[in-house]
Amino acid sequence: MSSFKDKIDKSNLPKHIAIIMDGNGRWATERGYDRIFGHHEGVTSVREITEAAAEIGIGYLTLYAFSTENWSRPQTEVDALMELLIDTIENETPTLNKNNVRLMAIGDLSRLPGNAGQKLNRCIDQTSANTGLALVLALSYSSRWEITTALKNICKEIKSDKLNIEDINDELISNYLTTKNIPDPDLLIRTSGEQRISNFLLWQIAYTELYFTKTHWPAFRKENFFQAIFEFQKRERRFGK
Ligand code: FPP
Repeated sequence: MSSFKDKIDKSNLPKHIAIIMDGNGRWATERGYDRIFGHHEGVTSVREITEAAAEIGIGYLTLYAFSTENWSRPQTEVDALMELLIDTIENETPTLNKNNVRLMAIGDLSRLPGNAGQKLNRCIDQTSANTGLALVLALSYSSRWEITTALKNICKEIKSDKLNIEDINDELISNYLTTKNIPDPDLLIRTSGEQRISNFLLWQIAYTELYFTKTHWPAFRKENFFQAIFEFQKRERRFGK
C-alpha cells in the first residue's frame, strides 16, 4: 500500500506546522475510560508526530498543549495534565537530544505551578544547541493574552520614548509576540472535528492553510500527519495576491 509519506513533495514542505491537539477526552470516554487516560494516550501521538516531523525535515512544530482557558477545568484534570506534561518533557529530553530536536515554549509560563517552569527551562536549556526540528509547546497560551501583553509592552516603550508610534508595523508587532523569531505557520491542523481556532496564534495564522480532521488526537498517527501535508501541497497559496 503506498503511503502518503511517499507522495509528499520533499522540496516543498511547510516550514512550520501548528497543531490543535483536540479530542483526548472524547477519545477516552467513547471507549469507557477516564479523560485522563486520553491525555496519556495523547502523549504517544505527540511522540509519533514529533518523530514524523523530524523525519521529513519540518523546521518548526507547534503543539497547543495547554490553553489559558484550560486552567478552568476541574482541578484534578489540571493537576494530572500538568504532571503529565512536565514528566513527559523531563523523560523525553535525552530522546530530543538524540534526535537533534530543540524544545521551545510559548505562553504565560509564570502561571505554571510549583517548579514546573524550572523543569521546563532546564529541558529548553539542555536542547538549545540542537539544530534540527524546533518543537514549540504552547503552554498556558492564548493568543489574546499574547497580543494584550505585546500591546502593553509596545505602549511602555512609547511612553519611555524608546519607540515612536510611526515605527509600529506588522514586523514590529510580530517581534513583540512570544513567537518572535519563529516563522508564521504554513499549515494549521486541528483534530477531532471541531472547526474553530480557539484563541490559538490569531496574528500568526493570517495566511496559514487550515486542515481539519475528524480523527481524535490519541488516534492521530504518522500517516494522518503525512496526509495533512499531502493535502496542503495540493492547495494554491496566493497570500492575498
Ligand atoms: C485536548 O483534548 C487536549 C488537551 C487539552 C491537552 C493536550 C495534551 C497532551 C496531548 C498531553 C501531552 C502533551 C505534550 C506536549 C507532552 P480535550 O481534553 O480538549 O478533548 P475533548 O475535546 O474531547 O474533551
